[in-house]
Amino acid sequence: MPRQAWVTILPPLSNELIAVLDLGSQYTQLIARRIREQQVYCRIFRHDTPPRVLARENLKGIILSGGPASVYAPGSPKVDPGIYALGVPVLGICYGLQLTSHLLGGKVIKASTREYGPAEIRRKGPSALLKGLPSRTGVWMSHGDRVDSLPKGFRVTASSPDCRLAAVEAPQRGLYGLQFHPEVAHTTLGRDVLANFLVGICGCRRDWRIGKVVQEGIRKVRAQVGRDEVVLGLSGGVDSAVVAALLHKAIGKRLHCIFVDNGLLRKGERELVERTFRGHFHVDLKVADASAEFLRALKGVTDPERKRKIIGRLFVRVFEREAKRFRRARFLAQGTLYPDVIESVAAFGGPTAVIKSHHNVGGLPKDMGFELVEPLRDLFKDEVRRMGLELGLPKALVWRQPFPGPGLAVRCLGPVTAQRLQTLREADAIVRQEIEAAGYDRKVWQAFAVLIPVRSVGVMGDERTYEEAAVLRAVTSTDGMTADWARLPQDLLARISNRIINSVRGVNRVVYDISTKPPSTIEWE
Ligand code: XMP
Repeated sequence: MPRQAWVTILPPLSNELIAVLDLGSQYTQLIARRIREQQVYCRIFRHDTPPRVLARENLKGIILSGGPASVYAPGSPKVDPGIYALGVPVLGICYGLQLTSHLLGGKVIKASTREYGPAEIRRKGPSALLKGLPSRTGVWMSHGDRVDSLPKGFRVTASSPDCRLAAVEAPQRGLYGLQFHPEVAHTTLGRDVLANFLVGICGCRRDWRIGKVVQEGIRKVRAQVGRDEVVLGLSGGVDSAVVAALLHKAIGKRLHCIFVDNGLLRKGERELVERTFRGHFHVDLKVADASAEFLRALKGVTDPERKRKIIGRLFVRVFEREAKRFRRARFLAQGTLYPDVIESVAAFGGPTAVIKSHHNVGGLPKDMGFELVEPLRDLFKDEVRRMGLELGLPKALVWRQPFPGPGLAVRCLGPVTAQRLQTLREADAIVRQEIEAAGYDRKVWQAFAVLIPVRSVGVMGDERTYEEAAVLRAVTSTDGMTADWARLPQDLLARISNRIINSVRGVNRVVYDISTKPPSTIEWE
């Protein structure tokens, strides 16, 4: 992808915009989320985005993210100094502050020790950025280098014992800087600091509302699609469901949905999709029952990676076959989210590189001959959920836990047979019912059953049994990248275990997985 494409991917909206320039921080996305939580629209841009590109937007302010580099290191990310002359306030966070100082004539030095963790700052004098904050407050520091002398016009507004220049500003130049991270939860009043910047300093109106996003989405889809037709693969997950609801509103019967039943779905999944889209929304929905084909392809396969590859390839083949039936369709809609856009761009040389390769299973090839419609490209997951509710999707769909593309196949360890899938499906349904009944479904990130090909001895009535074991996996997490096992109440664990052993044929033992990620993963395969 040519570099320039990055800045033109997203058509400008009429909203007021805060531009976050990514200098490589692991927190860049978090900064963007924190801003949007305050009902201010923002997007992440490459660090070297030319000022003239930013000037095309209804720009209200710029935030420079942190980053792991040193301003003196060769090849370290830099911004075009022209951004300081755009006439909007600029806030530098951590490396962003060091870079601003470096570029505008200050001095950055290597600190003798890296400052990492909680610190207390003390305010000094008046400050627009720290307005309303107490004289002392807790913040989160994470830096090696630090600013030693400031460019002209700056004054210090807060210090910590280890960092003299913890907060600085040059209000007449519209420049602000924080050595600490206001975006992380450990900075107690970080939200207030960001609000001061967004509202008090940049003058944002806080008018980014999900209803507006829906209207804007409908308008853009209509403009892109015109009188043409669109196909969309429904997966049962929230993203494709929201795309379907939005497109249906925008173009009605010219949307054709395809749901591939690969036989690896959870209990009730296909029915929920049919009920919602055919029954409630009256969407043109084609359910392709390919379960026999998938089972055949998986026969005898036990290696997890081979399972994934077989399922991924077959899915594409089935989808292409079905999509060809809609001869008049010129477009393919996809539920690509903003984090996917940032990650895929990062792969082309952006400083933040977090790539989840195996999570693309279930994706479609780029060369299917369709033009893409991606109305969620601008949104984070929680915004997509809010959009789903706004569009009238049922809560059961909107709040669904993540479910892997290869489905139950990667939770049915060993051979994937119709009978073992049935056993797993029943055990999993019990887990989900009980977790929901106890009010834990939104407290955990995921809760599900895994069937393992290990037989053990049990006793049922007077009879000896020799059957497989089900694993209960329930984890808490914020993004699936790290996870902890959920501390579920013991009576809930007992209920799940009793119900599974008493009613699911083929299982005589239930164990609870108490591994964290890392070093384990959430899924077993
Ligand atoms: P792991 O097992 O890697 O999972 O800790 C992290 C998150 O990703 C989901 N996952 C997948 N999602 N296709 C997907 O669409 C996959 O192949 C896949 N593998 C794991 C998993 O459910 C968890 O939420």
